[in-house]
Amino acid sequence: MKVPLGIFRLSMKLFPRAFRDRFGSEMQEAFEAELARCDTRRQVWSLVLRSASDMVMSAVGERKDSIAAPMAQPVAQPPISVQKPPARSLKPLTVDQLTVSRRQFLNRAWGVSVFGLLGFFGMSSLSFLWPKLSGGFGTKITVGDYETLLEKVGPASGYTPLFVPEGRFYLTYYEGTADSPVYAAVGAKETQLVALYRKCVHLGCSVPFCPSSKLFECPCHGSKYRLSGEHLEGPAPRGLDRFPVTLVEGRVVVDTSAVQVGPPRGTDTWAAFSGPQGPLCVPRT
Ligand code: FES
Repeated sequence: MKVPLGIFRLSMKLFPRAFRDRFGSEMQEAFEAELARCDTRRQVWSLVLRSASDMVMSAVGERKDSIAAPMAQPVAQPPISVQKPPARSLKPLTVDQLTVSRRQFLNRAWGVSVFGLLGFFGMSSLSFLWPKLSGGFGTKITVGDYETLLEKVGPASGYTPLFVPEGRFYLTYYEGTADSPVYAAVGAKETQLVALYRKCVHLGCSVPFCPSSKLFECPCHGSKYRLSGEHLEGPAPRGLDRFPVTLVEGRVVVDTSAVQVGPPRGTDTWAAFSGPQGPLCVPRT
């Protein structure tokens, strides 16, 4: 059978380099002679595979021989000597090196100012966002000694309410019948005190106390509230809102976190202060 030389070359490429180096042209001639005797394609591939198998077995035997050979003794290395670098001698700084230039000073001052400003701004923001856990509006506020406060806002002082700015409320004396559910909710009967939220229930203006009329008179639209905070006249839809008052170890505590809706219009529970006691501060329109 005439076998193309390309098959032979392809077979040789598949063989490892060690095989080609070992057998070289001798193998080539023997292989070509074998090929010339092959009649069928099957015989050709059989020859190629057989030759490849011989090559693999030969290579494996050579590998085993190399592993079984004794290992070479390590060559003794001369000891390595490490030399320390010479210590640097420190020189004192000169006057020029110690002084700060004008540019350096301005740069540093600018940096300190910027960082200071940012720090101040950050702390201010945090303190604003941080909830107040004690004191201030929205918490329980201890106003003071009960007996002292009764004297301050009661008959002895001419029923003048005490304004507590941190709680935004007036502490007023109360001696009415308390015929409205809200009085029970704020403890007015037990304490004889009422804490009135200063915010007008009409549109939210701050309502001042008028000493002559003994009324709370709103300057915005003329709503008027009695000493007890009940609605007297004007556009306000109800009486002033209020906060619960309790006594803790003889001290008055007002809970400004629990606003109670004021009594409805028409509520009049304290006859002595049912109307104005003198001239109005905000005249009727
Ligand atoms: S806001 Fe007070 S009467 Fe309108």
